[in-house]
Formats: sequence, C-alpha cells, structure tokens
Amino acid sequence: MSISIKTPEEIEKMRIAGRLAGEVLDYIAPFVQPGVTTEALDKLCHDYMVDVQGCIPAPLNYAPGGHTPYPKSICTSINHQVCHGVPSEKKLKSGDIVNLDITTIKDGFHGDTSRMYYVGEPSIQAKRLCEKTYEAMWVGIRQVRAGAHLGDIGHAIQTFAEGLGYSVVREFCGHGIGLKFHEEPQVLHYGKAGTGVKLEAGMIFTIEPMINAGKKDIKQLGDGWSIVTKDHSLSAQWEHTILVTETGFEVLTLSAGSPATPA
Ligand code: MF3
Ligand code: CO
Ligand code: CO
Repeated sequence: MSISIKTPEEIEKMRIAGRLAGEVLDYIAPFVQPGVTTEALDKLCHDYMVDVQGCIPAPLNYAPGGHTPYPKSICTSINHQVCHGVPSEKKLKSGDIVNLDITTIKDGFHGDTSRMYYVGEPSIQAKRLCEKTYEAMWVGIRQVRAGAHLGDIGHAIQTFAEGLGYSVVREFCGHGIGLKFHEEPQVLHYGKAGTGVKLEAGMIFTIEPMINAGKKDIKQLGDGWSIVTKDHSLSAQWEHTILVTETGFEVLTLSAGSPATPA
C-alpha cells in the first residue's frame, strides 16, 4: 500500500468537498444552543448536506473493520467525550463544549473537518482547552510542506500540548483522505521530528488532534463508537483536511465561518 498523490483534477474535487464540509460547520453554528439535542443537530446537518449541498454524509452507515455501522450523519462529542460521539436525544446544556465532526462526499471525494462549539458560556478551563487545541492543530499544519516528515507534525503538536500540561490522545490519528474516508498515511499527533514518511506535493491528509485536560487514556462506551477520557477530564478536537504543496500547505476545509488563523 502507498500514499496516493492526487492529480490536479482530483485536488480540485477535494477543494469542493472540503469547502462544503466547512460550510456545514458554519451552517450549524447558530443552532448549537442550550436545550437542543445532538440528534436535532444531526438531522439539520444531514438535511443540509443532502438537500442543499447535494452531498452524501460519509459517517452514515460507515463500518470500518470490527465496527457496527455508524448510525448517524455527524459525530457530536461533548465535554469528556474525545471523538465519535453518537448523536442522541440528550440535550446540550449551558457550559458544555461540543465537537461537531462533518465528513461530506461530493463527486466521490471526501472533505473532513471539525470544530469546537460553546453551549452558552464555557468555564475558563474549558474555553482555554478549546483555544489551545485549535492552536495545537495549527502548530501541526504549519509543519506541512514537501520534504518535511510526518513525525514533524506529531512532534510539534505533542510539544505544544504537553508544554501546557495537557495530554495527546494516542489511539486516534489524522489520515489520508480522497476517494476513501480513511486512506494512508496515519498522521499521529505525537512523535519525533525528522521521522516517518517524507511529505510530497499532492498528498492530502487530515490533522485532527484530540487533546485532554487530564491524562491521555481513553475508553470506548457500550455503543461501540463513543470514545471518552478514562479520567473523565475534558477533551477537545479540531480538524482540517490539508493538501501538501511544494512550498507549504493548502487548507481544503476553510469556509467563511472558519475561526481566524492563530498568529
Ligand atoms: N470524521 C472522523 C474522522 O475525523 C471519523 C468518524 S467515523 C464515524 O476521521 F463513523 F464515526 F463517523
Ligand atoms: Co478525520
Ligand atoms: Co472528522
């Protein structure tokens, strides 16, 4: 197996899928309020993707090896949920932080991006974790250019996050993406600079660090999908889909509502 180098035509399709995924995150933002259920957010996003954008929501019925098919169209991970939170009839409440993770398929190609949202007013600690995790993602993105190594990304994220007293989840990582949801390579959010695959222009992968306020350990819930921190500490995640270019990177999942790039 090897890492695909996308053609200019494929890259153009990935730009479209990526922007559409970002636009779902823009669309849903005003609905993330105390009292709304994550199931309602799922339905709104599903209908927007299908009816407005003409996209397929990639998570719906997604069944990688060993998993039961994912039952919903988006992932909604609240507070100590790390990732793959399954939308339910549970209501969001003021003070919650929630990650919404969107993956669109347009013209066969995937765009994958997630953001953190505040429900009402977050605690100072929760807000800081969300902001610093956003910076951690960008610290990783800024390592990307042809000739850099995959390990440079993980090293930069780990150094930044652990320097703040946070921990990096190990079991889930970024991934190549294109005609398939999850392709090679695996993009670890920890590691050693100068190690791993050398990046080449035309590679496309996600960077999606999961950062815990407490210890790095996680466990899976009985629904077969939702991942939570073992110590119940808060966890945050942000995700973009990134194209490697000769001189650096292009973020394929930016949209009008993307938060400002950190200085
Ligand atoms: N969007 C997630 C990722 O970033 C994967 C979700 S798989 C699902 O890789 F089945 F839970 F949707
Ligand atoms: Co992803
Ligand atoms: Co995702």
